[in-house]
Amino acid sequence: MRLAVLGTGYVGLVAGAGFADVGNEVVCADVDAEKIARLMRGEIPIFEPGLDRLVANNVREQRLSFSTDIAATVAGAEVVIIAVGTPSAPDGSADLSYVLAAAEAIGRALTGWAVIVTKSTVPVGTAEKIREAVARVSEVPFAVASNPEFLKEGDAVNDFMKPDRVIVGSDDARACEVLRALYAPFVRTNDRMLFMEARSAELTKYASNAFLATRISFMNDIANLCERLGADVESVRRGMGMDPRIGPKFLFPGIGYGGSCFPKDVRAALATAEAAGGQLEILAAVDRVNERQKGVLVDKMAAHYGARLRGRTIALWGLAFKPGTDDVREAPSLTVIERLLAAGVKVRAFDPVANAAVRARFGDRVELCDGNYEAARGADGLALLTEWREFRRPNFQRLKELLVEPVLFDGRNIWDPAELRAAGFVYFGIGRR
Ligand SMILES: NC(=O)c1ccc[n+]([C@@H]2O[C@H](COP(=O)([O-])OP(=O)(O)OC[C@H]3O[C@@H](n4cnc5c(N)ncnc54)[C@H](O)[C@@H]3O)[C@@H](O)[C@H]2O)c1
Repeated sequence: MRLAVLGTGYVGLVAGAGFADVGNEVVCADVDAEKIARLMRGEIPIFEPGLDRLVANNVREQRLSFSTDIAATVAGAEVVIIAVGTPSAPDGSADLSYVLAAAEAIGRALTGWAVIVTKSTVPVGTAEKIREAVARVSEVPFAVASNPEFLKEGDAVNDFMKPDRVIVGSDDARACEVLRALYAPFVRTNDRMLFMEARSAELTKYASNAFLATRISFMNDIANLCERLGADVESVRRGMGMDPRIGPKFLFPGIGYGGSCFPKDVRAALATAEAAGGQLEILAAVDRVNERQKGVLVDKMAAHYGARLRGRTIALWGLAFKPGTDDVREAPSLTVIERLLAAGVKVRAFDPVANAAVRARFGDRVELCDGNYEAARGADGLALLTEWREFRRPNFQRLKELLVEPVLFDGRNIWDPAELRAAGFVYFGIGRR
């Protein structure tokens, strides 16, 4: 099949390369000329494990190419995928301007029947808006389908190649047939395709992200209660997770969720409910709890150092919103850094791949270091913000020698408090005794 993918971000590039890998001819187009120039030079603009090889193989086999020419990309494609951003508008709703601009560009470029597939996360009713935007400028017949993407950054290639489920929302029989054929190689072992109408498909994506965010905020609430009651959330979490109705995943307390999806999707779901005259009361609390949680480590620092916090140096390990990605969009680290700087604290930080993204936001207000031990050198305390694998078993003796004061703020509960206290550290976790 001939595919056009508009948007070469985390979703568009992974999907484009994944579809090419099973034999399709895919052109990925973007309005960002610099991104396309880098891709044409063989560079991958984002960090995503396995993506470089997947892209390189398919470019070499001439199944995957890149372009800034949207019209030429769309012309002749049977499937046109919209994978552009849907950031938060100032009122929290999803800003659809990129999606609708893409739809209009597609309408102007269509040369024959195609199914226009929305992979971007979009509010309920967007499929109809896309249909209108295309029909306004095109007389060529076409179909619209919602196909929300469920990949996780950090494991995006695996998720795409072996999806838990493929949701297709469309009332057009031909579109459903084309998408069934397109996804057949990815669901061979187990048919995990689910067809429904577009509105339900659009809402499935928001409901899924909202539910995952709810689990995180719920556990953070329980963790904070554990601290008040003298219980240990790590025991509580394990005990809860053994119930198969609950399960152990996504029950980890920490410093809040971030990234390019949960925060904006939670806010967009709230805005959608409000616009429909309803309310998502649980989700409103999820959002509030998360905003509060991003500040808990700094609250612990303020309580520990008291008036001595101003003028101190704090080292931060991990800045990406989660391990395995360079994405810092809405990462809790940004809140931590802003609050520390506002409190007159000097920040030294290290992330295996996200240093550049943080430098782009904070410039020289944050000292970004080349290694984790380097960040700790001369600091008055160390905060672990992202649980990269390499931070799980550091050389604590070395760390103790580098720190001026051996104080650890473990924002992800990856270290053993008893072991560290025995080694002479002052340890603060989340919801632990
Ligand atoms: N990142 C994730 O993990 C993830 C997972 C599932 C769903 N989603 C959703 O997928 C969508 C894309 O997310 P992302 O993280 O890949 O975004 P991104 O910001 O990384 O990439 C979006 C790309 O679209 C390009 N673009 C904007 N307008 C365009 C146009 N008219 N034509 C062509 N290209 C255009 C931008 O230049 C940018 O390169 C969002 O709606 C997001 O919510 C993201």
